[in-house]
Amino acid sequence: MISAVKPIRPLPSAVGRGMGAAYRILLAAALLLAIPGCARELNSTESALDPAGPQGQHITSLWWLFFWICVVVYVLVIVMLCGAFLHKRKGQAMTPGSDPITKPDEEHEQRMWRVVFGAIVVTVITLFFLLFSDFATGRAIHGLSQSPDPIRIQITGHQWWWEVRYGDWPKRFGERLPYNMITTANEIHIPVDSSHPIAVDLQLESHDVIHSFWVPSLHGKRDIVPGHPTDLWIRADRPGTYWGECGEYCGYQHAQMRLVVVAEPVEQFQAWLTAQRQTAPDPSNKIQERGQTVFMHSACVMCHAIGGTEARALVGPDLTHVASRKLLAAGAVPNAPGHLAGWIVDPQRIKPGARMPQNNLNPLDLRALLEYLETLK
Ligand code: CUA
Repeated sequence: MISAVKPIRPLPSAVGRGMGAAYRILLAAALLLAIPGCARELNSTESALDPAGPQGQHITSLWWLFFWICVVVYVLVIVMLCGAFLHKRKGQAMTPGSDPITKPDEEHEQRMWRVVFGAIVVTVITLFFLLFSDFATGRAIHGLSQSPDPIRIQITGHQWWWEVRYGDWPKRFGERLPYNMITTANEIHIPVDSSHPIAVDLQLESHDVIHSFWVPSLHGKRDIVPGHPTDLWIRADRPGTYWGECGEYCGYQHAQMRLVVVAEPVEQFQAWLTAQRQTAPDPSNKIQERGQTVFMHSACVMCHAIGGTEARALVGPDLTHVASRKLLAAGAVPNAPGHLAGWIVDPQRIKPGARMPQNNLNPLDLRALLEYLETLK
């Protein structure tokens, strides 16, 4: 009879060593191959080691400082460890039958004490150096909060999306009037101006659970505790699309609570800002008219707002310029008509647990609604 459980037999040592080394190399290669897989679509970056502004640069420098000091410490420890294994004390080897060592070699003991004491002093100095460089980085990051004339953006973390409201901006981008405040979702546009750098004051808050705002290329993460609004100052020094995440577990769809920061040259930012300040255009044909009617007479209007129409609910994202955005459902899917249709009809399939309900629209109504939403640029 064949036993179901075989006793584990150790591999012959040479084979075992060979297999172990090969296995480790394969594992390391597999992990290295996985790194490019972490890169995101939309030609964008999300890496704390790819800074795009002064804060990101300070954090990256600190990271590399810690990394290289840790490398030096690791190599020293391994060298000392190997030295200790290979080192043989002269004349003190114990052999069977020889007398036990009763008198320590005093000169050797003293040398050892000096080495140990020296190592303790170097360790303490190194730790204090790291501590002070950490403080210095913190101070340098804080420096931006003194910038005059910033763009102020209110960001509210919701389960599971980011509400973005432009509160104020420098006069040169146009007077801000109370009735045309810009409200968008999961996408933040900021200007890049090398001659006249513009700081951005992100005013963060949450009304449900703890979230954490994190755009690694621009800044470290900042927790947002309900009832405790906080500020985060950022600046981008080169144009680009920078991904961000919610960095604090906040429920079922925490992993699908992403955002994107679009840093663009001043003229492009100005054009975006001007477009976002407009209300939605009126439907220009029969299908779009039908689409708007579907919107106003279905569940959509209960949660969403469209500037310039009767839809003014604030439960879900403002849709006045939904067609201009790159993402749907906080980055769960790209903003394309097919994905939008899928999201309207069965959002729970794309993002289970999201607040958006199913909408059983007939195909003609759905097509009309999509056509109308596509005009909201
Ligand atoms: Cu919001 Cu995790």
